[in-house]
Amino acid sequence: MNPAAEANSRPDYVAINGEIVRSEDAYVSIFDRGFLFGDGIYETLRVYNDRIFRWEEHWKRLWASAEAIGIQLSGSGHDLHETCRRTWQANGLRESYLRVTITRGIGVPGRLGIRDAGDPTTVVIARAAVLYPTEWYAKGVKLVFSSILRNHPLAQNPTVKATSLLNNILCRSEAESRDAFDGLMSNSEGFLTECSSSNFFLIQGDELKTPSIDCGILGGVTRSAVIEVADSIGLKVQEGEIQSDEAQDADEAFITNTTMEIIPVRELEGTPIGEHCPGRRTGYLIEEYKKLVEGETQ
Ligand code: PDD
Repeated sequence: MNPAAEANSRPDYVAINGEIVRSEDAYVSIFDRGFLFGDGIYETLRVYNDRIFRWEEHWKRLWASAEAIGIQLSGSGHDLHETCRRTWQANGLRESYLRVTITRGIGVPGRLGIRDAGDPTTVVIARAAVLYPTEWYAKGVKLVFSSILRNHPLAQNPTVKATSLLNNILCRSEAESRDAFDGLMSNSEGFLTECSSSNFFLIQGDELKTPSIDCGILGGVTRSAVIEVADSIGLKVQEGEIQSDEAQDADEAFITNTTMEIIPVRELEGTPIGEHCPGRRTGYLIEEYKKLVEGETQ
């Protein structure tokens, strides 16, 4: 199935507040603050071989997001993990993308204050894990520099995985209108941050560089796994500030997230990256990452 068709395919069952229901019967209130205000958090997770990859890290990040915006999670990590498992299994899946959404619950239109918000609404959706087009891995994707800045950490902090994704959507749609896969956003100081839904890496010599969390990015679960893998194969990992010309001069570049894993970047704002795409070390990282995932989800 191509990604567009895959994206449109609906799973048979989803979970709402822990209860498995048919997706055509699954509704949340129009008064839910997630709908009214984009007031919520989420996680996207990957199930391989009937197991969630790095559940603990996702749970930790979800918990931190909830705490940062003052949503009181009603259940334990174990409960949520069980709901996730029941959801992907209800759909007969062993390989799956999970989307866990938690909103601040029912509210009142126009009343932003959180004191009278209801209990959080929790929705789990499990979709079949269909890989992105092989061409993206074989030939890489095009990125452009986005005119949209990544959210300032003192505004909607990028470390919070919030459902209000308008900034990221503007970045993605601008990139698509320029015939690119995605946009690379800068922070207010002009340093690179990340794409609309992935972290950015470059390789220069024997160094693997990626924007630090302080640059204003989401700390990706895939990002940390890639850093571990890179370390173990002798690439020197450097997390810090990256300027756009440094990225365009890189030998290799790639982006990462839970669903795509590692996708090479062949062109950045019209400049080809390196001589071949994927570069040798990106190819090596892709292989090693697969081994890491297999090792952890056997
Ligand atoms: N997005 N940066 C942003 C802004 C993201 O939204 C994501 C993930 C990442 C990578 O994080 P991870 O490796 O933990 O997936 C970085 C997910 C896939 C999403 O929005 O569905």
